[in-house]
Amino acid sequence: MTELTLKNLRKVFERGTPNVKVALDGVSLDVERGDFITVLGSNGAGKSTLFNAILGKFRLDQGRIVLDGEDITRQRDYRRALNIGCLYQDPMRGTAPHMTIEENLALAYTRKASRSFFAVNRRDSAKFRDLLRELDLGLEDRLKTRMGLLSGGQRQAASLLMATIAEPKLLLLDEHTAALDPATAEKVLDLTKRIVAQRRLTCLMITHNMHQALEMGNRTIVMDAGKIVLDVSGEERARLTVQGLLDRFRADAGRDLDNDRMLLQA
Ligand SMILES: Nc1ncnc2c1ncn2[C@@H]1O[C@H](COP(=O)(O)OP(=O)(O)OP(=O)(O)O)[C@@H](O)[C@H]1O
Ligand SMILES: [Mg+2]
Repeated sequence: MTELTLKNLRKVFERGTPNVKVALDGVSLDVERGDFITVLGSNGAGKSTLFNAILGKFRLDQGRIVLDGEDITRQRDYRRALNIGCLYQDPMRGTAPHMTIEENLALAYTRKASRSFFAVNRRDSAKFRDLLRELDLGLEDRLKTRMGLLSGGQRQAASLLMATIAEPKLLLLDEHTAALDPATAEKVLDLTKRIVAQRRLTCLMITHNMHQALEMGNRTIVMDAGKIVLDVSGEERARLTVQGLLDRFRADAGRDLDNDRMLLQA
């Protein structure tokens, strides 16, 4: 069952100026329900732009986006946000720092339901506490702590809960562990795997780490200059090493990664 279809997406920024940039150059992708796709590509390849297109942050020049059978190409971003959860590199983004953990979770939880944020009750609080306990970061006793007081890792973990608590049709992770120290990043990645598997979410995750990209999820795509240049899954992916991926990229993109603006972290 297909959850998300991208058909020939095209986006040109600053058209008619010397800075004209083809950020998406005919991107097509079929994402099956439950797919966990890792997305690689060097700086400026168009990865975040692809996410922004799915989120409706701008008008496409061309192409169609279908989510769970519904054509959302022209749907406004706030409408799409009801079905799409997202997380960014910056732990400050997407949370309200002056509100408590509980209030942040309540906001995320009631956003989709046709009920008021102010109607959050004791049962909801208990649910939040249970979810926080699962994170294993000691946050279950800090429901009344302001979000802004948490460490980056704690906030990313809480943001992950917020992004998934309303059971989104799609979860988009844009380098969500890139700003964390390695140990914390590892923890948040483990959490990501757990939550995605538990809730059977359909997920796209951008990363610059090739090991991570091959190890997590069930499919990997590589973007370059606004195009998907590599798409591996199944047996082929299981056999693929980081070196193999580098070689494939070199073959497919027609140039040596060593000369690239930025290496994909090997
Ligand atoms: N709003 C915008 N206005 C103008 N140009 C943009 C805009 N957003 C993105 N671009 C350009 O589109 C290209 C793709 O950018 P994008 O942010 O998608 O890259 P990326 O693959 O996410 O890179 P990174 O790994 O550095 O995050 C870049 O050349 C970028 O400068
Ligand atoms: Mg980006």
